[in-house]
Amino acid sequence: MLAATSRSMARVALTRAAIRPTAAIGLRFSSAWANVPMGPPDAILGVTEAFKRDTDPRKMNLGVGAYRDDAGKPFVLNCVRKAEAKIMGDLLDKEYAGITGVPEFTKGAALLAYGADSTPLKEGRVAITQTISGTGALRVGGEFLARWFPTSKKIFVPTPTWGNHIPIFKDSGLEVNHYKYFDKKTNGLDFEGMVNDIKNAPKGSVILMHACAHNPTGVDPSQAQWDELSKVVKDAGHFAFFDMAYQGFASGSTDKDAYALRKFVKDGHLVALSQSFAKNMGLYGERTGSFSLVTSSPEEKARVDSQIKIVVRPMYSNPPVNGARIVATVLNTPELNSEWLGEVKLMADRIITMRTQLKDNLVNKYHSKHNWDHITNQIGMFCYTGLTADQVEKMKNEHHVYLTKDGRISVAGISSKNVEYLAKAIHEVTK
Ligand SMILES: Cc1ncc(COP(=O)(O)O)c(C=O)c1O
Repeated sequence: MLAATSRSMARVALTRAAIRPTAAIGLRFSSAWANVPMGPPDAILGVTEAFKRDTDPRKMNLGVGAYRDDAGKPFVLNCVRKAEAKIMGDLLDKEYAGITGVPEFTKGAALLAYGADSTPLKEGRVAITQTISGTGALRVGGEFLARWFPTSKKIFVPTPTWGNHIPIFKDSGLEVNHYKYFDKKTNGLDFEGMVNDIKNAPKGSVILMHACAHNPTGVDPSQAQWDELSKVVKDAGHFAFFDMAYQGFASGSTDKDAYALRKFVKDGHLVALSQSFAKNMGLYGERTGSFSLVTSSPEEKARVDSQIKIVVRPMYSNPPVNGARIVATVLNTPELNSEWLGEVKLMADRIITMRTQLKDNLVNKYHSKHNWDHITNQIGMFCYTGLTADQVEKMKNEHHVYLTKDGRISVAGISSKNVEYLAKAIHEVTK
């Protein structure tokens, strides 16, 4: 009896030892990730997190680069809703697309970018592939250039540029260099600095240019300046890579915003192009874009196409079909296409109106002594206000207005209800 009791007590003690935390840890393998350091948080998502924690009803989030309507709400375009309804009604299958995506999409996207009268398009020498939005286009382009661009692995990007350009191209195997772009003294373009840096880049470099609505500055070259840049890039023997993430968003006209790209192509440049439908069709989460290359002949295009497929296949095999079907339906259905062009203009015009009202409030209502002309001279979704990091802190702490440390605001986040409040806050911190 006594022996049985001591055996059961011994069993209990053994079980307890087995579930003691130290004993359990002792049984675990040491982690392969023990030395993985904590990475820095994403600059823009950090702004949103701080905004969400703020309970003040006047708070404004001007960090995110997504369009909002005048009620501050995400905007799904009517043409997109109609295209979705049509696609649902068509009861299409869910088979894989080819490696380069949905052909009706790539055909429409190329026409939109290069224009119906584009010679390379008519001659069948534009290689195009559907990508995971603009980010994926830049990455596929970066990978292709790293493998096949003959003269250099150097890519030059403007200072400043969209923050993701740098890791995208580094991860693609390119060496990222910079050219001057923004002039802090004028809050405008440092055209002379830009031209000199491009001229002085090693012959045969890749020059990345924002086709319109430069992010983050909102500063674009004029048409005359683009004409000159086309000569400069050609004379220096460089290669032009256009990032067009905002076609239609700058001026409200998709043709006008394609000026730089089309001018370079007309001048004989064999350009690379990244396109995104995130902003101009409001398809952010659908991840729909394209990468294209103008080649010198249909035969060369076929070879380039084959190598683009070899880049894409091990990355994601083939792109998703839904966003591409939406874009194709909008671009290729005449009524939806014209409705879309109207909606793009509506978004661009609202942004332009917010710029005018912000400047008007600063100058005429609050009698700010600073020059705010750059607010209306800049174009597209973003405005580089010129606010310093300290002033950005005050905007947040004293006025509940959230923006990135570099003083960039997303004009799409302003509405007719809060524009005056924003002007007052900017005036207070810049007095
Ligand atoms: C300049 C620029 N290029 C490319 C992109 C890519 O965007 P997405 O991958 O959402 O199409 C963005 C988005 O903010 C951008 O501002």
